[in-house]
Amino acid sequence: MNIIIKAACRTFQTVLRLAIPILPYRSPKVLSRVEDIPGVLKEQKIHRVMIVTDGFLHLSGMLEPLKKALSEAGIGYTVYDETVPNPTVWNVEIARERYLAENCQGLIGFGGGSAIDCAKAVGARIARPRKSIPQMRGILKVMRRIPFLIAVPTTAGTGSETTLATVITDDKADHKFPVNDFPLIPRVAVLDPEMTRNLPAHLTATTGMDALTHAIEAYIGRSTTKDTRADALEAAELISKNLENAYRDGNNMEARANMLRAAFLAGRAFSKSYVGYCHAVAHSLGGKYHIPHGLANAVLLPYVLEAYGETAYKKEKDIAVAMGIADSSTPEETAAEALIACIRKMNADMGIPTKLPGIRTEDIPQLAAFAHREANPLYPVPLLMDAGELERFYYDVMEEAK
Ligand SMILES: NC(=O)c1ccc[n+]([C@@H]2O[C@H](COP(=O)([O-])OP(=O)(O)OC[C@H]3O[C@@H](n4cnc5c(N)ncnc54)[C@H](O)[C@@H]3O)[C@@H](O)[C@H]2O)c1
Ligand SMILES: [Fe+2]
Repeated sequence: MNIIIKAACRTFQTVLRLAIPILPYRSPKVLSRVEDIPGVLKEQKIHRVMIVTDGFLHLSGMLEPLKKALSEAGIGYTVYDETVPNPTVWNVEIARERYLAENCQGLIGFGGGSAIDCAKAVGARIARPRKSIPQMRGILKVMRRIPFLIAVPTTAGTGSETTLATVITDDKADHKFPVNDFPLIPRVAVLDPEMTRNLPAHLTATTGMDALTHAIEAYIGRSTTKDTRADALEAAELISKNLENAYRDGNNMEARANMLRAAFLAGRAFSKSYVGYCHAVAHSLGGKYHIPHGLANAVLLPYVLEAYGETAYKKEKDIAVAMGIADSSTPEETAAEALIACIRKMNADMGIPTKLPGIRTEDIPQLAAFAHREANPLYPVPLLMDAGELERFYYDVMEEAK
């Protein structure tokens, strides 16, 4: 990246970092059972809600405890269940029409990051009827209170239940982008491990690696605070102790609960301290080829950390220590290498591949341009790269030989 653009990026990031204390960050109220949701809705005088979920979760019967609790409390609901993985502008618009037609007063995002993000984006469109979702791309474009939003994660990964982001795919342009603003932070997050009990092993693995990516990208970036550093390190420690246990035995509810907490902490960390190039590249792959978000991050993470090189050694050592694979006497470079090797081993042990299918050479310049547009100047990464430099990651993870 040229030196003038680098300086401009760093200045932009410094301004945002200095603004952290005056920006309206907040953390959602945390509940531990879906059965406690009606009480909160009653406090808010909400009598009818829209549950935003996906078809599989609806059919699986996982919504039943929530539906029963709402009915018993006399709270009406309608269910929008067409959310797709990597949710689209179309999903959001159809769900919004339903919300308005049914006179709903609040939203419950029930599912993985896709359903929760869809609910957030519906909220943004209700608050901003004249602004399309693509017009809200980037930061601080919602700027108005959205309807009361409760998030019930059924994966332990995205942390969307506490973040200020929603990531939506423009189905017309095969382009996926985040919308980041404070009103999108859910008012309530329900961390109920029962909701993740049936998450299949491969999704447990990839969504858990998404959470680890959040913790690492937030920690090694240059806009951390004492709180985000503590959250990120605790998340990394919890993930190293619990993810493989949850992967091997989905009924290990202690591991499930710890993974939900880890995803929440990592989400809270990156809400203030941002993600990095791993996410920007993963979003471009999700938008173009519908590669699942957690899978893309898991595969990309070791390559991106390698590319940061010595600029991230010191912080990578802290993470390695938190994960129990280095100690204070380990040289920084050795600890950083141990962290990257550990991520590769976790991936391998959980059946996550080292390459991603379907990437076409001719698409790479445009994908890298999307990643560049998402990340620069916003993400305070340890080492700045422009679109040309980001292209390497697509070649790194492509299935075919270069
Ligand atoms: N808003 C944010 O801060 C943020 C952060 C990271 C990622 N994301 C976004 O979140 C999305 C990915 O979310 P995700 O990784 O949670 O996956 P997902 O929501 O796309 O779900 C993946 C699959 O898992 C299934 N599933 C979910 N929970 C299940 C359960 N308990 N049992 C069985 N099946 C279950 C779903 O039906 C779906 O088929 C992406 O669009 C990504 O960009 C958002
Ligand atoms: Fe993510």
